[in-house]
Amino acid sequence: MSGPNTDYDPVEVTPLKPEEVEAARDAALAAIAGAADLEALKQVRIDHAGDRSALALANREIGALPPQARKEAGQRIGQARGAVTQALAARQAVLEAEHEERMLAEETVDVTLPTDRVPAGARHPLTTGSELIADIFVAMGWEVAEGPVIEAEWLNFDALNLGPDHPARTMQDTFWTDPPESGVVLRTHTSPVQARTMLTRTPPIYVVCPGRVFRTDEYDATHSPVFHQVEGLAIDEGITMAHLKGTLDHFATAMFGEGITTRFRPSYFPFTEPSAEVDLRCFVCRGVDSQDCRTCRGEGWIEWGGCGVVNPRVLTACGVDAERYTGFAFGMGIDRTLMFRHDIEDLRALFEGDVRFTTTFGSEL
Ligand code: PHE
Repeated sequence: MSGPNTDYDPVEVTPLKPEEVEAARDAALAAIAGAADLEALKQVRIDHAGDRSALALANREIGALPPQARKEAGQRIGQARGAVTQALAARQAVLEAEHEERMLAEETVDVTLPTDRVPAGARHPLTTGSELIADIFVAMGWEVAEGPVIEAEWLNFDALNLGPDHPARTMQDTFWTDPPESGVVLRTHTSPVQARTMLTRTPPIYVVCPGRVFRTDEYDATHSPVFHQVEGLAIDEGITMAHLKGTLDHFATAMFGEGITTRFRPSYFPFTEPSAEVDLRCFVCRGVDSQDCRTCRGEGWIEWGGCGVVNPRVLTACGVDAERYTGFAFGMGIDRTLMFRHDIEDLRALFEGDVRFTTTFGSEL
């Protein structure tokens, strides 16, 4: 067995030669200084300080040296590696700081700059209000029905027991299309949707019909030639006025809150018999000390709409067996309902399309 390799010349182990170590260190330092960003520095770290780097290789060679040569080589390589590690850490800190500064600069928002963004609109209260009403009935299993706004005179009047000579026919100030003999009108109420529904479906029928209607009214704070109604129609066996009252009470409570119900006052509509005006319990004063209440003007009640048990003549005209079925119907102004629900003083606000008005309602959920 040979003795210890005392003659071994460390200079002969290439990776350990001082100039090699120095070159590896300088190459590493130059690469570190040249790393432009954190990504580049990461690669430099792998190349010059990683397991396969020249200095790591040299470090591994130390073990192959005779003991007396190890110390000196170890120091030389340790110093070189230390310098590289330090330079890496320093460069890392500089690049991180730069990166952070750049991000901050890039993400700066000048809140004083004028915006070119189109402001988000809001759904119109008539749309959300109509949907809210429809939802209340859909939740009870009713369906939503629609009809045209340009309507046959026969459906708007005759089918609803408003014959040509009926005085109520002139009570509704009708827009006629030209020529008048055409028999086509702008519907004066949503009740023709009742007639259409009965003519096209078989009972049981439970429909709610929100829609636009037209009358030759002046345009002022409480009237408009275009407004909105919601019609309800239920046709089934054994339907009575009690079902009508219960339905409207539920509608009122769902829309205006617990304890807000309705009362009926006798009235007349050709298409219902008996007929009633529906009043809503004032949801502001709730009928208590009403004298100063602005909403109901001291009445304790608010006029809400018309209703009644469907006249058998209407059932027959619309092809429903009046012996077997009975029904109820009601109709209210949606605009009016929204006016007192939201304390809107002027009806025209609902029609003028001012976004400042619409956006105050936002989207009602
Ligand atoms: N159509 C009636 C109106 O416009 C309201 C109403 C509907 C009344 C249904 C009774 C039943 O005045």
